[in-house]
Amino acid sequence: MSGSSHGQAWHGQAAAPNGSSERRLRPKEFEQIAKTMYRSFGVDLGGKEILVEARLGKKLRELGMESFEQYWKMVEEDRSGESLTAMVDLLTTNHTSFFRETQHFDYLRREILPSLPPPGRIRVWSAACSTGEEPYSIAFTLLEALGAAQAARIGILASDISTRVLAAAGRGIYTSERLGTMPNEQQRRYLLKGTKDSQGSYLVKQEVRSLVTFERLNLMEDFSHVGVFQVIFCRNVMIYFDQKTQQALVNRLAAQLAPGGHLLIGHAESLNGIDHGLKYIRPATYRKIAGPSNSFYRRHTDR
Ligand SMILES: C[S@@+](CC[C@H](N)C(=O)[O-])C[C@H]1O[C@@H](n2cnc3c(N)ncnc32)[C@H](O)[C@@H]1O
Repeated sequence: MSGSSHGQAWHGQAAAPNGSSERRLRPKEFEQIAKTMYRSFGVDLGGKEILVEARLGKKLRELGMESFEQYWKMVEEDRSGESLTAMVDLLTTNHTSFFRETQHFDYLRREILPSLPPPGRIRVWSAACSTGEEPYSIAFTLLEALGAAQAARIGILASDISTRVLAAAGRGIYTSERLGTMPNEQQRRYLLKGTKDSQGSYLVKQEVRSLVTFERLNLMEDFSHVGVFQVIFCRNVMIYFDQKTQQALVNRLAAQLAPGGHLLIGHAESLNGIDHGLKYIRPATYRKIAGPSNSFYRRHTDR
């Protein structure tokens, strides 16, 4: 029998070289899945057959399905959209951490905040927030710099496509390993330490969580309703998109920036080759220049 490690057999399934009955991803099936991912989320799976086979293969086994095509059809036919969301969750990574790429948080504190004098509202968008470490790091930074007395000025929107990560982000509970290099002093100020059953976990305090609004949002869809921001963090998500998609997204993000507002992208990402009206400030940091001169910033300034 060509059984798997669970001793089950699968009809129509070729045995893998190691004798197990791993489901094989056929080129046609890869095409179907890749097209759905691109059309729905802008995610470009080009060349990622191995990743798709490994991650969705596990899901197929859980669902007791015999082929990737069967799974793909279920996703396409599920009118609730839940299967589609579960698929993007499996095929993208949610890796993140507190104060990831710490230069951005230093820049926010040292350069951006002083340019936003009181009493104006400070709106920041974490546009692919994953499990919440990014928007909470923004909240800690702003609170630390402004003081609790100015907390009412702060409004953070945190969005992601994945309902699973958004639920975790909203709970705001993290194990001590997730806190990384967060200074003890800040931990004491903004986190509650778990006791008894919650030993080893930390809960982001209510006064910090109340500064963040979570919303499920697909960056491929219209997001003009979110309003205008002084800072947009759109980090480590553009790596999934091809250049055409990045181009359209950056222009739509720029439209949501207030004059003088900043767009922060991942340090492993680049806007090179993308025609945008933003001024390059420093690595992974772009600014919308106030006034009509904005339109004169073209690609050659992106150096
Ligand atoms: C690697 S995480 C980035 C987290 C955080 N920004 C950081 O840099 O640490 C990428 C996130 O992008 C989300 N994502 C992927 N495609 C998306 C889309 N089309 N719209 C919105 N979010 C998307 C994923 O669900 C994932 O949580």
